[in-house]
Amino acid sequence: MAPWTTNDIPDLSGKTAVVTGANSGLGYETARELARHGAHVVLACRDESRGTEALQRLRGAVPEASAELSLLDLADLTSVRKFADSYAGERGDLEILVDNAGVMALPGRRQTADGFEMQFGTNHLGHFALTGLLLPQLLARPGSRVVAVTSFGHKVGRMNFDDLQWERSYRKWLAYGRSKLANLLFIFELDRRARAAGATLVATAAHPGYADTNLQSGTSFAWSSFMAQSAADGALPTLYGATAPDARGGEFFGPSGFLQQRGTPKRVRAARKAYDVDAARRLWELSEQLTGVTYQFG
Ligand SMILES: NC(=O)c1ccc[n+]([C@@H]2O[C@H](COP(=O)([O-])OP(=O)(O)OC[C@H]3O[C@@H](n4cnc5c(N)ncnc54)[C@H](OP(=O)(O)O)[C@@H]3O)[C@@H](O)[C@H]2O)c1
Repeated sequence: MAPWTTNDIPDLSGKTAVVTGANSGLGYETARELARHGAHVVLACRDESRGTEALQRLRGAVPEASAELSLLDLADLTSVRKFADSYAGERGDLEILVDNAGVMALPGRRQTADGFEMQFGTNHLGHFALTGLLLPQLLARPGSRVVAVTSFGHKVGRMNFDDLQWERSYRKWLAYGRSKLANLLFIFELDRRARAAGATLVATAAHPGYADTNLQSGTSFAWSSFMAQSAADGALPTLYGATAPDARGGEFFGPSGFLQQRGTPKRVRAARKAYDVDAARRLWELSEQLTGVTYQFG
């Protein structure tokens, strides 16, 4: 089989996509390719000037693009609700949601506006709330997609439900790993719940391997950015999950090269702990309590 590229993305005319963290890195690449293939793309970004600059860049790259900026701060549930309300009011149905935005290995323990540990709060809880609030718009379209962008780093993650938010001791890489394991537990549970409800929603996960983006610029990994693949290549597993006709709910896509760090997308397996249904149910219930967002499939 020939390697999958952006040329394989089907025509997306008439569809709307929301991409979180679309102003840089993988999110921008994802948004641009979705727009290039005809989707109306909502760039969901936390900073107005960075978002505006990205929108201009996207329009420069794809002059026929249909795209807009909408402000979303995943580290603030008020902002998440505002974004979802305005989407529902102004746009209505939704075919593709890419839960991409993320922060990584913050040096000290920080908190979101709602008092959650920043990596868990942004990467997991913010997206959990956003997806749940947009569920009616997603369910209104048959076969709509949700893609969670996670990391190979989920393998070091562990769900310690006694101190989920690192109040006793904070370890920046383990906190990142936990948040990325949570992305997988969440998306696989979303797939199971959607199936049980008879919904046609397709919930998949993707990871980019190691891609050259702003994410590493503040870490000790910055020196090795020459080893990384481009952000455009890193976005391919996400684009596969978001658009490939043969992507199925519960599948996980990542690069096909050495240690899944680079290369064209293929189906991959997550660590066994990501398929732990008891942990997934527990995380789901806790996430509903913490965010106040409950999922209604009916
Ligand atoms: N690059 C890699 O090698 C790699 C590897 C594994 C997984 N990932 C995952 O890929 C995803 C995208 O990261 P990237 O590599 O493309 O890095 P990036 O260039 O730093 O992009 C991250 C994006 O998330 C946004 N963001 C951060 N906090 C946010 C918040 N509270 N609300 C809304 N948006 C927020 C950032 O906005 P600002 O620009 O305003 O900060 C930025 O747009 C992340 O989930 C990351 O965990 C990346």
